[in-house]
Parts: sequence; structure tokens; C-alpha cells
Amino acid sequence: MDPSFRIRQYPLDRGAMEIEFIEEFFGEFERKKTAAEIRARLAGREHGIFMVEAPLPEEPTRFIPVCYRVAHELRAAETDPQLADLVARLDGAVRFHGQRVLYGWLGGTRSDWRGQGLFRAVSEFQEDWAAEQGFREVVVKTKNRYYAMRSALVHLNFDVIQYERNAMHNGESKLYLSKRLGGGVGRTWRRSEARFRTA
Ligand SMILES: CC(C)(COP(=O)(O)OP(=O)(O)OC[C@H]1O[C@@H](n2cnc3c(N)ncnc32)[C@H](O)[C@@H]1OP(=O)(O)O)[C@@H](O)C(=O)NCCC(=O)NCCS
Repeated sequence: MDPSFRIRQYPLDRGAMEIEFIEEFFGEFERKKTAAEIRARLAGREHGIFMVEAPLPEEPTRFIPVCYRVAHELRAAETDPQLADLVARLDGAVRFHGQRVLYGWLGGTRSDWRGQGLFRAVSEFQEDWAAEQGFREVVVKTKNRYYAMRSALVHLNFDVIQYERNAMHNGESKLYLSKRLGGGVGRTWRRSEARFRTA
């Protein structure tokens, strides 16, 4: 167990504010999410906001969020136009009837903390939570040009289920990936759990 990090689930308001703050550190995102957008998307639908907290180098007793994952339920009949569009794009690739589907909406690790297994840890934590809530599949969306995220998702055993080619810029082409959860085969061994504590 590595006492340097801990994983927590955040309530909506605090989580939305922390994500707005943490996304300021991501050069990769052209449009960062605001706390208001996050609250609007997540309020009224089942969701999970998970953060890895690490001690500040200059103040080791103070922990700050350095890695996060946010996911919410995605249903066949969405009224939010963005989510309805997403469901339409997943048509034929994801089964929405007879199972609960989780959409892994946001996530990342602050650059100074990358390469230490934090994203794996928070992802595995989120998957256990999702399986306990009865979700059977987690779906994520990324772009060709996000090489680190694509690599991380491959390492986390996500399968590509859909590809949308951008004719002008292939880096902007969209990839949809998915992973089955639980399914009655029992909880799988978690690579990260020997190293991180949860709170
Ligand atoms: C992708 C990202 C989340 C990885 O975070 P991280 O905390 O460094 O990831 P981890 O250390 O937990 O690595 C998880 C797995 O992915 C692999 N991985 C992570 N980054 C990688 C990279 N750049 N190249 C190759 N493999 C990589 C690791 O080897 C690890 O696999 P393993 O556990 O089987 O060894 C981080 O680089 C990031 O936030 N990038 C920016 C986010 C982004 O581009 N988002 C685009 C919108 S979808």
C-alpha cells in the first residue's frame, strides 16, 4: 500500500468545482469543462466522480486531486441533445436494452503525476463501483490524436467498437471503446489495489 496517494468519491458540487480547477492543468483540452456544465450533465442521473489525491510536494500533509474519472449512466432514450447524439452514434455497437451502460465522460492525470499508475488505479476503482451499481458495460470516446489516452485504454482492456473518420484531419477521427463489467464471473484481480488505499 502506497500511503502517498488515496482515492475518493466526490459529491457533485465539490467534484464539479475540483474538475473545473484540475482541467486548467490540461494543455490537451481545447475546451475545458466548467463546474456549471458538469453539474448540469450529472444532476439527475446516476454518476460517479472519482479522484486520486496526492500530497503537495511543498506541504506534504495537504492532499490535492491529481487524477480523476467521471462517469454517468447513458440510456437509450436521452433527451439531452448531446447525449441523444452519442446514443445514435453508438447504434449497433452498444446494447442499451436489458443492461445498464456507463459512459466514461471525463478523465486524466496532471502531467507531473503521470506514469505512476494513477489512472489505472482510479479506473479500476470506478469499474468496481460501476459493477456494484449494476452497470454491465462502460463506454468511452476519444480521438485518434490522443495517443496517451488511447494507449492507456488499450492497457485497461478496452475494445474499439466504433470509428468515425474525419476526412480532413485523421487525428480528429473519433474512436469509441467499451469494456464489459462484472457479468457474474466475479471480481477480477486489480493491479492497482496493492498500492493504493481508498477512503
Ligand atoms: C492518458 C492519461 C490519463 C494516463 O494517465 P497516467 O496516470 O499516466 O496513467 P497510468 O500510469 O495509470 O497508466 C495506465 C496504463 O496506460 C499505459 N499508458 C499510460 N500513458 C501511456 C503512454 N503515454 N504511452 C503508452 N502507454 C501509456 C501505462 O503503461 C499503464 O499500463 P499498465 O498499467 O498496463 O502498465 C494521461 O496521460 C492524461 O491525462 N493524458 C491527457 C488526457 C487526454 O489526452 N485526454 C484526451 C481526451 S479523451
